[in-house]
Amino acid sequence: MNLYPLARPFLFALETETSHAVGLRSLQLLRTLQRCVGFEGRVPEASPTELFGLKFANRIGLAAGADKNAQYIDALGGMGFGFIEVGTMTPLPQPGRDKPRLFRLADEQALINRMGFPNEGVEVIAARIERARYAGIVGANISVNAATPVERFTDDFVTCFRRVRHTADYVAINISSPNTKNLRDMHDEARLRELFTRLFAEREAGKRLPILMKISPDLDEHQLAEMARLALDLRVDGLIATNTTVGRNAIPSHPLAKETGGLSGRPLFSLALQTVSRLRALVGSRVAIVGVGGILSADDYARMRDAGADLVQVYTGLVYRGPALVREILRRG
Ligand SMILES: Cc1cc2nc3c(=O)[nH]c(=O)nc-3n(C[C@H](O)[C@H](O)[C@H](O)COP(=O)(O)O)c2cc1C
Repeated sequence: MNLYPLARPFLFALETETSHAVGLRSLQLLRTLQRCVGFEGRVPEASPTELFGLKFANRIGLAAGADKNAQYIDALGGMGFGFIEVGTMTPLPQPGRDKPRLFRLADEQALINRMGFPNEGVEVIAARIERARYAGIVGANISVNAATPVERFTDDFVTCFRRVRHTADYVAINISSPNTKNLRDMHDEARLRELFTRLFAEREAGKRLPILMKISPDLDEHQLAEMARLALDLRVDGLIATNTTVGRNAIPSHPLAKETGGLSGRPLFSLALQTVSRLRALVGSRVAIVGVGGILSADDYARMRDAGADLVQVYTGLVYRGPALVREILRRG
């Protein structure tokens, strides 16, 4: 039964960040109740696939930022996701940017956020991943603390990597959030080479953990080609395209367009789709691509797959469509 259309007006009447928390807690409560009465809901038939050495029950996943602290892995897993990316987590806990920092553009089925990675820190989050019972793939999205100077960014990534190396199924290197000062400067050949050299050295010591890199939709053609070349050269397992955009071309006259932060949801879709399709042409079949940005229906999912995405993630679509979005996509296959 799809209760989300009934719940949505109540959730949308709340302040945006509160509504997100209430939505997730309600989902968790619902799952607990279902488990207590022995009815766990039916997830449509899965079509498994194997990528970078991992077996995915299906190709639809939860994007980073929705479960920053890994508190809801089991409840979200119950929605049918084949993979869940938690975080972004940073070495030390931090509060994120001042509120308000999340804006709902309901008429555009979009969000603008400048959260700035509020999170409880990699130590606490990694311990929660270890306690989760979800049988699907869990990715750890890692990045840097707001107070870390640029020249120490690599150290932050390495600190997080060491802690999640034996805990997560894959690691996503987040160099693309627009809300941490200078982070997007990491889309730079020398910096990325240094970062990956250190991560690979760490990985040598343990299991072969897949490393994916999450990139920005705001790169020009030249920068995108450079990212693709580097991904091939460095043997990155996958590219996650894309993070939110700082561009406002798709919503020029919206009253909230002037809010700083990253735009997600419907207005991001064509840019994310174009980025995935360009990347696929550039990397061929040698690098996996995770397509993300503005997926609000099974049709959007199908277009993202056609553009070349091996896996697809959603976030803002869940806010507007609820769990039915995942079921619709799984039913279509
Ligand atoms: C409120 C919010 C917080 C986000 N936080 C993160 C984050 O911590 N790390 C990250 O890599 N991406 C983060 N994202 C970006 C999403 O993972 C995703 O790349 C982007 O929103 C595009 O997908 P969508 O249109 O389906 O939301 C966040 C997005 C939103 C809306």
